[in-house]
Amino acid sequence: MTLPTDLLDLATRIAREAGDLAARRRREGLEIATKSVAADIVTAADKEVEAFIRAELERERPDDGFYGEESAAQESRSGITWVVDPIDGTVNYAYGIPAWAVSIAAVEGSADPATWTAVAGVVYNPVSGEMFRASRGGGAWLAGDRLSVTADVGAAGGLVATGFGYDPATHEPTLALLGRVMPIARDIRRIGAASLDLASVASGRVDAYYEKGTHPWDHAAGVLLVEEAGGMVGGAPGGRPGAGMVIAAGPGFYGRIADVLAPEL
Ligand code: IPD
Ligand code: CA
Repeated sequence: MTLPTDLLDLATRIAREAGDLAARRRREGLEIATKSVAADIVTAADKEVEAFIRAELERERPDDGFYGEESAAQESRSGITWVVDPIDGTVNYAYGIPAWAVSIAAVEGSADPATWTAVAGVVYNPVSGEMFRASRGGGAWLAGDRLSVTADVGAAGGLVATGFGYDPATHEPTLALLGRVMPIARDIRRIGAASLDLASVASGRVDAYYEKGTHPWDHAAGVLLVEEAGGMVGGAPGGRPGAGMVIAAGPGFYGRIADVLAPEL
């Protein structure tokens, strides 16, 4: 049996090397292509970094599955699947905004966030050098500091992170969601990388995060960080986090934000 901490150590080593490779490629120049819509971009580095992560994982754990943003999925023979976003926050990466991350999670079960259990996860920002790490039952950590979500939110409301999809067709409903949240928010943050939004909830840098339309690799590691930091994470009413919705917050605020979002979901 593999311990979550062994998977975490492997993810940490690979994320650091992958992030440093991405940062090096960024200094050398950018090669950008368009994905689903004009605003949705991918760089040559996204693909190269995913290939690097995949090759390292295959070498160390050939029976594990793989589920990444930039290449075809591989089914697991061991019960463990790696869920990988080589560069989360690609638009920040392209513009030179220092808020992008490598996100790597090891999950048990099928490659579907509705059913899997994340057992280890890292979110690494190579620009700040911050490596957020969590293993199931082992807590969430940033360097030697154990992370915890904010306990409660005062009269000013919560500091709430969120995101907007690339597809212009989603902007109107996204703004309707924001309209529901503003009355309970002291302010909003749009950091530009879902994995860092979730790491921010885990470390108490924001009180909550919600977003509709994310992909499994955007939130697989970050959800575990929040849970291990004492937070709550969910999706559409009664559901688990997924494309329909991801909501993450401390226990003192989760119910309020979930309640205001529910009528729009
Ligand atoms: C995106 C970022 C962004 C979020 C989008 C994601 P990408 O990931 O996490 O913050 O709003 O939903 O798709 O494309 O940079 O890997
Ligand atoms: Ca990405």
